[in-house]
Amino acid sequence: MPNLQSYENTIKNFSWAMVEKELQYKPGDSINIGSYCSDRICQMGKGKKIALLWEGFGEGEKKFTFNDIRLGSNTFGAFLRNLGIQAEDRICLFMDRIPELYISFLGILKIGAIAQPLFSAFGEEALRVRLEDAQTVCILTQYKHLHKLRAILDQIPHLKHIIVLDHDGKKPLKAKEIPFSMEKATAVENLEIFPTKAESSSILHYTSGTTGKPKGAKHVHYSLISQYLTAKWVLDFQEDDIYWCTADPGWVTGTSYGIIGPWSQGITQCVLNAGFSADSWYKFIQKNKVSVWYSSPTAIRSLMKAGIELSKKYDFSSLRHLASVGEPLNPEAVVWAEKVFGKPFHDTYWQTETGSIMITNFPCMKIKPGSMGKPFPGITVALLDLKTYEPILEPGKSGLIAFKPDWPARMRTYWNNEETFKGKFKNGWYLSGDRATMDSDGYFWFLGRNDDIINTAGHLVSPFEIESTLLEHEAVAESAVVSKPDEINMEVVKAFITLKPGYQPSKDLELQIMNFMRKKLSPLAMPQEVEYMDCLPKTRSGKIMRRVLRAKEWGEVIGDTSTLDEEN
Ligand code: PRX
Repeated sequence: MPNLQSYENTIKNFSWAMVEKELQYKPGDSINIGSYCSDRICQMGKGKKIALLWEGFGEGEKKFTFNDIRLGSNTFGAFLRNLGIQAEDRICLFMDRIPELYISFLGILKIGAIAQPLFSAFGEEALRVRLEDAQTVCILTQYKHLHKLRAILDQIPHLKHIIVLDHDGKKPLKAKEIPFSMEKATAVENLEIFPTKAESSSILHYTSGTTGKPKGAKHVHYSLISQYLTAKWVLDFQEDDIYWCTADPGWVTGTSYGIIGPWSQGITQCVLNAGFSADSWYKFIQKNKVSVWYSSPTAIRSLMKAGIELSKKYDFSSLRHLASVGEPLNPEAVVWAEKVFGKPFHDTYWQTETGSIMITNFPCMKIKPGSMGKPFPGITVALLDLKTYEPILEPGKSGLIAFKPDWPARMRTYWNNEETFKGKFKNGWYLSGDRATMDSDGYFWFLGRNDDIINTAGHLVSPFEIESTLLEHEAVAESAVVSKPDEINMEVVKAFITLKPGYQPSKDLELQIMNFMRKKLSPLAMPQEVEYMDCLPKTRSGKIMRRVLRAKEWGEVIGDTSTLDEEN
């Protein structure tokens, strides 16, 4: 029996207060995600249950019980507190998917500090911009990533401590660098939990914007209410599940459903700290007897590409429930999964800003392949007219996906950027920036984004950030970045550039530019192609018309460009 048995009956009487009660939380009480995900689970008698089954590429396997997670997060919390870290201080997590990432995340929250997870593949510039914006005071990292910090250290004076989690005791450390080993440290049995309240800040997740620097979506401890219930009803956790969320905690899926969702329910999860290969993923599922699997369309398409023959070598009988997020899930992927795993993927739709799943397919519901499903109970969604921002009532008409801003996990602001945050609301609706239609059965169908953001392999990339980086190269006069179609990643980044006088287009120069970019950006944001242009298409006021370039890449007709002139 799935946890949610009747969608229709549930939405009629739904209230978030029901979840508060289930979590024994009363408005006004303290609520701390770090403690809920570890201490509370131990208090419920599950201290000996496995919380984390971890496997690293060539680094073997490790197991942690909920009691280990409790002690480890206490130990991190005490260490940071002794360093002078205060509530609300921003603490960055900049590491691969090692156990310390998951455990220190809870430790940071336990002392009331704000966790700022950043994807460890970020280059220097991507890292600098985000640390500067958040005025981060401390960063936890691995030795192999130190060089990126050392390169930008003089530009981020507010950073006081760099904690090196895997220092061998031999290699020289520099100013501000402090070694700390979770395994060697004396475990802290009792830690005073900072009495965070519902609206206390918890996590800062950076996401791309169309213009300007990345935006830090600020979340609060009360988000637990949404994350707990969505995980229970959408991922459908049962007591003996082995859960695998393939997302990195540098992104919101990796924290909301790669840490908080499962652990607030005392569910065992496994983590594979290795790059993608169909073979190793299949092996991982078989070996760990994964029963609930949350992944992404790009990963599914990559598995499809590896062929059905490979999949036949493995036993997938442990799999009970599959879900996907981050990009449109093509109907073929749903059908393919039924063939290979005997189960369809359930598409889920949400965003960094929403903090939890908003529109989704539930296990108790009929899936229409290609549809994102229906709104989660307690979520009021509307499709708004693009000009008037009034709800469109007829089924089948496209509109902007918008939500009434009243669910627990919604972001509370963009860090340091209240103006952009306010700009996300119109007529009392939160605007997602995506377009969709709804059919007469109430199912939502994703159409596309309503801005220039590129969604490559499920990662949002800002054309603006790439264009700015391109302009830092001495040879580049102008740049425009758009998406182009890709079989696996759905879309990839393509850059158009014009050169400064004295520079000639050449393969060599392209390589030079690519190497320059690689140091600064994350591999995900890297252009796959650079095309030289004599001039870029512009509006009369001089703005670059990305849409014209994009249409060319996608083989779309753009019609009379003079009408686009001033609206771009
Ligand atoms: O455009 C939508 C797309 O990813 C965006 C959110 O990206 P991010 O903030 O990085 O969070 C990703 C994980 C929650 C959305 O605005 N997106 C997300 N889920 C879907 C999707 N597009 C189509 N179908 C989905 N299921």
